[in-house]
Amino acid sequence: MRSLRTGLSLAALLTGAALVFTAPAAHAADPPLRDLAAARGKVVGTAVTGSKLTGTYGAIAGAQFGSLTPDNAMKWGSVEPTRGGFDWAEADQIVAFAQAHGQQVRGHTLVWHSQNPSWLTNGSWTPAQLSGLLQNHISTEVGRYKGEIAAWDVVNEPFNEDGTYRTGLWYDGLGSGYIASALTWAHAADPNAKLYINDYNVEGVDAKSTALYNLVKSLKQQGVPIDGVGLQAHLILGQVPSTLQQNIQRFADLGVDVAITELDVRMALPADSGELAQQAADFKSVVAACVAVARCAGVTVWGFADSDSWVPDTFPGYGAATPYDENYAPKPAYRGLAEALGGSTTTPPPPTGACTAAYSVSGQWDSGFTGQVKISCSGASLASWKVSWTYGAGQRVTQAWNATCTQSGAAVSCANASYNGAVPDGGSVTFGFNASWNGSNPVPTVTLG
Ligand code: G3I
Repeated sequence: MRSLRTGLSLAALLTGAALVFTAPAAHAADPPLRDLAAARGKVVGTAVTGSKLTGTYGAIAGAQFGSLTPDNAMKWGSVEPTRGGFDWAEADQIVAFAQAHGQQVRGHTLVWHSQNPSWLTNGSWTPAQLSGLLQNHISTEVGRYKGEIAAWDVVNEPFNEDGTYRTGLWYDGLGSGYIASALTWAHAADPNAKLYINDYNVEGVDAKSTALYNLVKSLKQQGVPIDGVGLQAHLILGQVPSTLQQNIQRFADLGVDVAITELDVRMALPADSGELAQQAADFKSVVAACVAVARCAGVTVWGFADSDSWVPDTFPGYGAATPYDENYAPKPAYRGLAEALGGSTTTPPPPTGACTAAYSVSGQWDSGFTGQVKISCSGASLASWKVSWTYGAGQRVTQAWNATCTQSGAAVSCANASYNGAVPDGGSVTFGFNASWNGSNPVPTVTLG
């Protein structure tokens, strides 16, 4: 790391340009997680938000993971916000990104108590109407992505903590039979997709996971199409259940696959180095439990970066739950994942594809200067871009071309013009500007994305 960074600084000095990489550089590298996992017959995935699949976020998502799960884009409230009014934009975008990067997609989720549209939850439905709505929803969504989704979380979170069925829209209206119906309709719409029931707090052997076990056993006996169980694994630091592997094994012995579907490990903030080391051990032990059981299909993390995690919103004061930090630098937890997949203890390789922005001053006079920013892509591409930086010495942008720039205080933000948003793989776009300066004109750090 040190020698590479020194090399970059030297280059910057020689050219007068500040090279800014959108992804952290690294030294002697393991293969990416997806390759380590594939070598063990496993798939490592991440939950993603479609709008973020660009810049560093997109580069890491594409390079490191072999599977994507839309975190919200395929939920009922997202795809059918008004009755009969479908919006597939984000879901389509994620599927297209996955296909472009040779990744699987886990569909998430078709029947859940949460994130349903208000027209559905506020409606008054007879059981027959409710059943019809559910069948139509499943047939429409699964049918749309037929052949493109490796596995569906068909039913999400059907149980209470004591192993009784969760009451609410589906159970109250249709009884527990809604689960078998949903699986059957999903199978009819895409016979090749693996169909899962997914829940949280079912990682160890306890009342809730035993209720899930008994349900799966009963569904298998009835011939209902059930292919797998998803153990979400939203865990607390230092609390990986000691019976995790045993639990995975008992589901496997029923004849279904198991996947860790939403792994994160939260802790009280701020995190110290001891806690981050414990978190690495926790990630490692979860992945190791999956690696140890042949029918464990793989592990998905619920967001790969701390800046992209649901935890701080839901558990105020808690966070740091993912393998990358807020700035997309890998944490010890990344090494925990890699080690459990047979990697060494090195930091990860930079994404194979990335787009970068480089700021340079091309001419300077008494009170003004001309600068330019070059956005280049290699192994990645952009449909639009935004570049921002903060001036440290009172510089002010007075005019820009080939971009729309605004400055508020010291903060400058430049977005593409209507004609140059696209930066193809292997291509670049440059914009320029004039600015004023006084006293000194230090080169700022530039952020792309
Ligand atoms: O999109 C709106 C935005 O317009 C609005 O300004 C903003 C204001 O709060 O809310 C935005 O919606 C939020 C949505 O995420 C998209 O960011 C919702 O409030 C928020 O509740 C929702 O949270 C999601 C949560 O499920 C809902 O229960 C998380 O992103 C998502 O990661 C999380 O995922 C669940 C799994 O589906 C099932 N297992 C548990 C897991 C974690 O809760």
